[in-house]
Amino acid sequence: MDVLSAIHTRRSVRHYEAEPVKEADLKVVLEAARWAPSWANTQCARFIVVRDPGIKLKLAGTLNPGNPAIAAIAEAPIVIAACAVLGKAGYKRGEVCTDKGDWFMFDVGLAMENLVLAAHALGLGTVHVGLVDAKKAAEILQLPPGVVFVEMTPLGYPNEEPRVIPRKELPEIVFYDRYEQK
Ligand SMILES: Cc1cc2nc3c(=O)[nH]c(=O)nc-3n(C[C@H](O)[C@H](O)[C@H](O)COP(=O)(O)O)c2cc1C
Repeated sequence: MDVLSAIHTRRSVRHYEAEPVKEADLKVVLEAARWAPSWANTQCARFIVVRDPGIKLKLAGTLNPGNPAIAAIAEAPIVIAACAVLGKAGYKRGEVCTDKGDWFMFDVGLAMENLVLAAHALGLGTVHVGLVDAKKAAEILQLPPGVVFVEMTPLGYPNEEPRVIPRKELPEIVFYDRYEQK
């Protein structure tokens, strides 16, 4: 699948088959994340591949009640938790160097979008899951100090055909030469 088709046809998947993910496919999606760009190539993103059903259940319990991805975290054969080492992205010689502070969210986002697009190209489903009690997730995953939980995605074969969620039209989001108040 070419990159434009992957971008246009990827959907968030919230229902999964129990069928395991092939090891070779897991490696491809992790490699896609590894090759994402990052701030000065500092590579703050870390990935935890969770297969243990007990840990997946505990992670499902960190989602806010009503989060439509709760079942997906429990039922997918794999959950990938994306974490970040703080104090790397957006820093120069230990000092923050922009008004944005730590750029870890940006770098982890780039890596995870690579990962979900690669998964889709292989016929695997994913959904970015950010509405989570991140502190609880960090405890479950035993993150050390200085490493934070950012998001997670289930990974597995889709058991649904998700509907297309519409997007704003280009004129609503693209301006030329200067920002336009609409
Ligand atoms: C940073 C981020 C966090 C998200 N968190 C959740 C979440 O906690 N639960 C959920 O069901 N979907 C979550 N989503 C998925 C979005 O709802 C979804 O991407 C959006 O509605 C567009 O649908 P699509 O991915 O099918 O195109 C998240 C997406 C992003 C980018």
